[in-house]
Amino acid sequence: MYEGLLKQYKEYLPITDKTPEIALAEGNTPLIPLKNLSKELGITLYGKYEGLNPTGSFKDRGMVMAVAKAVEDGAKAIICASTGNTSAAAAAYATRAGIKAYVVIPDGKIALGKLAQAIAYGADIISIPGNFDEALKAVRDIAKTEAVALVNSVNPYRLEGQKTAAFEVCEQLGKAPDVLAIPVGNAGNISAYWKGFKEWHEKKGTDLPRMHGFEAEGAAAIVKGQVIEAPETVATAIRIGNPASWKLAEAARDESKGYIDSVTDAEILNAYRKVASQEGVFVEPGSAASLAGVIQHVKNGRIKPGETVVTVFTGNGLKDPDTAIKETDIKINKMSDVEDMRRHLREGVAAL
Ligand code: F0G
Repeated sequence: MYEGLLKQYKEYLPITDKTPEIALAEGNTPLIPLKNLSKELGITLYGKYEGLNPTGSFKDRGMVMAVAKAVEDGAKAIICASTGNTSAAAAAYATRAGIKAYVVIPDGKIALGKLAQAIAYGADIISIPGNFDEALKAVRDIAKTEAVALVNSVNPYRLEGQKTAAFEVCEQLGKAPDVLAIPVGNAGNISAYWKGFKEWHEKKGTDLPRMHGFEAEGAAAIVKGQVIEAPETVATAIRIGNPASWKLAEAARDESKGYIDSVTDAEILNAYRKVASQEGVFVEPGSAASLAGVIQHVKNGRIKPGETVVTVFTGNGLKDPDTAIKETDIKINKMSDVEDMRRHLREGVAAL
C-alpha cells in the first residue's frame, strides 16, 4: 500500500530514525497525457496533476517533510505566510502531527477554498492588510524570537520534500522530459524540481529537462529584474513581488538552459478554461500559468515541435470557485418539468 513520500523516498530525504512518520498518502500524483492539447500544439504534453494531493496542491510534499523535521526538533507550533495553499497544507499536517499551525494570509486575497481548508483543519488564522511579501517578512521576524518553526519554503526541508515530484515525473515517463513548465511565485518549487531532476539523473541517468518557469505579468519580479512593490494578478497563488528563492530559480533556469518568462492574466485565463474544457482537468488559475507559458513558448519557438513537455498543475481548480464562476461563461438551463428537459435534450442530442 502506498503510504506517502517520507516512506517512498526515505533514502533520498533527510530522514533519521528520530524523524516521525507523518503521512496523508501525499505524492504519487498522476501524469496525465493531454492528448487534445498535444495535437493542437504539435508536442507531446503531459500534466503533472498536483491538485490531487491530499490538500489539493503540491505544498503537501514539502509540508510533510518540514512538519516531520519540526516535530523531530521538538517544535510545538509552526508558522507560515501564505497565498493560501501553504496555509492549507501547514494546517493539515500540523493537525496530523498534533501541533499547532499559525497561518498568516493577505487580507481578502486568498481563494475561498483555501481559507475554508485552514478553518476546517483548525489553524490559528491571522490576516494582515499587506500582501504575501509583507506577511513573509513578518513571519520570518517572528520565527527568530518565538518558539515556532517557520515552514515557508525558505525552510530547506520544504524543497527536499518538493523535489520528489521530479523523481515521480522521471519514473512515470521513464526519463526526464525535454521541458518542465512550471508556475513561479515565491520560486521554491522550480528550485525544488531542478534539485530533484539533478539528483535523479545522478542516480539513475534519466537526463535533465530545460526548466521553463512562468510568473504572472503583474508579479514578474525575476523577469523584470526588480522587486514588484504591489504585485497584482488574477492568479492569487502567485501574487508575489519578491520571491524568496529568486537566486535558486535563476540558477535552475541558467543551469538547465531554460527560461523564466511572464504570462498575462488573459493568457492565464485562456489556459485555465482550455485545460478544463478540452481535457477535463480543472486546475486553479495559478497553475494554469504553466500551460499559458507552454502555449506562448510553442508560438515563439522556445518549445520545438515534437518535444516532450510536462506542465505542472500545482493546485486543484476547486480551490478557487469564485474565479471559476466569474471568469467562465455560465450557462445554466433552468427548467421546471420533465417535459421541458426532454425537449431540451432531444434538441441537443439531435444536433450532435
Ligand atoms: N501554484 C500554486 C497553486 C501555488 O499555491 C504556488 C505558491 C505556486 C504555484 C508557486 O510556487 O511559490 O514555489 O514558486 N503558493 C504559495 C502559498 C506562495 O502560500 O501557497 P512557488
